[in-house]
Amino acid sequence: MTEDMLTENGPRDLGAVARTHREAVQAYADAVEAERAAITARMESLHRLRLTTIDLVDALRAAIGRTHPGTAGAVPPPIRDLLEWLERLETMARRATIEATDLAGAGAALAARLQSPDFASLLMEVSKMTATETLKHEHRVIELVLGAIDREARKAARGEPVDPAFFAQAIDFIRNFADKCHHGKEEGILFKAMAEKGVPVEGGPIGVMLGDHEEGRRFVRTAREALDRSDLRAVAENLMKYTALLRQHIMKEDNVLYPMAERVMSQAELDDLVERFETVEREEMGEGTHERYHELAHTLAGAYPGEPERPAPTTPGR
Ligand SMILES: [Fe+2]
Ligand SMILES: [Fe+2]
Repeated sequence: MTEDMLTENGPRDLGAVARTHREAVQAYADAVEAERAAITARMESLHRLRLTTIDLVDALRAAIGRTHPGTAGAVPPPIRDLLEWLERLETMARRATIEATDLAGAGAALAARLQSPDFASLLMEVSKMTATETLKHEHRVIELVLGAIDREARKAARGEPVDPAFFAQAIDFIRNFADKCHHGKEEGILFKAMAEKGVPVEGGPIGVMLGDHEEGRRFVRTAREALDRSDLRAVAENLMKYTALLRQHIMKEDNVLYPMAERVMSQAELDDLVERFETVEREEMGEGTHERYHELAHTLAGAYPGEPERPAPTTPGR
């Protein structure tokens, strides 16, 4: 699975990635079904050809019986050759019909299997992202909310009216998805695993990442306190500091830290991280929480699309 696949149409959740695979399989199943229908049609035409051949052989034999009664040896050689060719053609048509029937049956069985729910769940399984793909994908989801925060915070900083409920939801998203879920996986699992492989913590790249996480928490805490006293300018100021920090942080992780993890850890160790991420999702976040925040990110990004563009001035008489 490539990064392009995750981002070409914007961030997608794991289900969306699996759905893409399912769509590809559905297209394949449709192609199998179309081929089966074509084979069946060909089979019918072969069958008709065979029946015509049999009729022709019978007619020829009857004619020969009338013209050369009881003397098969006296049948002129060209007629005998023709009969042999017709019989051979009939045999080939019969074999081809049997093979076409088998092929059509196999195609139907394959199409049914591809479309079964069992196969769909198998696809879900094989569509799983790697550990670093999962974290990068979460970055893309977080960036959706960072964009919405930037737009609303700029409005608040200019003194324009903004909905305090937006900031409350954005802070909730940051605290639960970006921090508890995403940074939780990094701090509790990935960074520890990297440290065990010898990547320095204090004074090293992991220490820098941990420092960013802490600084981000301070900005969010201050923003939340400002929201409680309805000081939207202070909310905006702190959230803008947070988004600037987190964008830089995400860039460092995507381009430096995660590639480093892929270098120092084996494939089996990286796969093990995926299992442990899922445990965090299930046991610490709770079933469905990740998906709920995922939805929230899309809702916030969709509901707060920023300032409408000013219509271009129209020139009279044109
Ligand atoms: Fe991080
Ligand atoms: Fe991260």
